[in-house]
Amino acid sequence: IKTQVGIIGAGPAGLTLAHWLKQHGIESVILENRSREYAQSRVRAGLLEQNTVDIYKKLGLADRLVKEGQEHHGVYLNFDGKRIRVPFGELTGGRNITIYGQQEVVKDLTEAWLAGGGELYFEAEAKQIEGFEGENPKIHFEYAGEKGILTCDFVAACDGFHGIGRKTLPKNSFNEFSITYPFSWLGILANVAPSSEELIYAYHENGFALHSLRSDKVSRLYIQVDNDDHIDNWSDERIWEELSIRLGTKGWKLNSGPIFEKSITPMRSFFTDNMQSGRLFLAGDAAHIVPPTGGKGLNLAVADVKHLVDGFVDFYKNNSMQSLDNYSAIALKRIWRAQDFSNFMTTLFHKQDEHGSFTYHLQKAKFDYISFSKVYATTIAENYVGLPFETFE
Ligand code: APR
Repeated sequence: IKTQVGIIGAGPAGLTLAHWLKQHGIESVILENRSREYAQSRVRAGLLEQNTVDIYKKLGLADRLVKEGQEHHGVYLNFDGKRIRVPFGELTGGRNITIYGQQEVVKDLTEAWLAGGGELYFEAEAKQIEGFEGENPKIHFEYAGEKGILTCDFVAACDGFHGIGRKTLPKNSFNEFSITYPFSWLGILANVAPSSEELIYAYHENGFALHSLRSDKVSRLYIQVDNDDHIDNWSDERIWEELSIRLGTKGWKLNSGPIFEKSITPMRSFFTDNMQSGRLFLAGDAAHIVPPTGGKGLNLAVADVKHLVDGFVDFYKNNSMQSLDNYSAIALKRIWRAQDFSNFMTTLFHKQDEHGSFTYHLQKAKFDYISFSKVYATTIAENYVGLPFETFE
């Protein structure tokens, strides 16, 4: 097969890239090693920044998102049972977030891509990328038991944290950075109406809790657990009890209901400081992981794609590699910002040390500051809804 941009991975990064390139008349082919069913049913993040929503609207991919997604205009923050609200739109000149499951984004984009005649091979595993230091890189893949080669002008590795893209970059071309947090998230999905119309982040002496939602019938909730904890230690009853304690404030009640998904996920931050080698580019989770606390994972992937598209458009229009060679540098500015914000939200609301310790008092001092300073609250709001692209360009 031959194309202009060979894309590995049909997650949010790869699919968004394919659609956006198409809008500019640039061809691409996507290879995805999982089945369509699997790729569409993975339960993941569900928070879309203003930029992300605007991009999907511009690409004509937001019909269902606008209909079924829920726009949130603020977030609740709890500390030791005290609750405050950070209003987004009011502090950021009208920018907000939308709650819409990542698997729904993947479904919408896959359907639209295939309906428009786009090439996407499921259960096609990229095995090796070669020739990316020259002008005709090749992706060797396996599809239906057969070996194939995708020859292209460029390779976009949108193949997630465990993909082959990052592993293919020359060893001396990057530095990797990571933090593994000393706690994990136990997350549940439950068939129950959300108990709050907006998200609630909570610090409690028992540990962090987050009340989120997927729709008006499905709630998504999380609690901090130890890294060596096991899901079998958590009966549904114990989960609801703990959530109720940690999220509790005076006069507020948590609705409980049947849990249909529960799992424990470790929390980590990771990134590589180089996302390009010749004609091979990394985007999304392939290059960086953020703890889910700031809701940045999917949005960072879409932001990478924005810069990558700018680069490809420059190349095919002006025959210039300049924007593409600048891709890493420009994408990394937002990635660092998101790493900092994700780390900030994580360390602010998780129990890191004994309740009442020095660290606890620093956390509390920050919370108190948010509650009385519009300036401090604004820094949270503008990071939460996502900074406009112009900020970093
Ligand atoms: N060949 C083909 N496909 C591959 C290969 C390979 N060798 N390796 C990985 N893939 C596919 C995976 O099966 C997956 O569908 O690449 C895709 C990567 O998708 P994601 O992991 O969803 O990553 P990305 O598109 O960068 O999405 C960004 O946002 O909310 C966050 O972490 C969340 O994954 C999400 C991320």
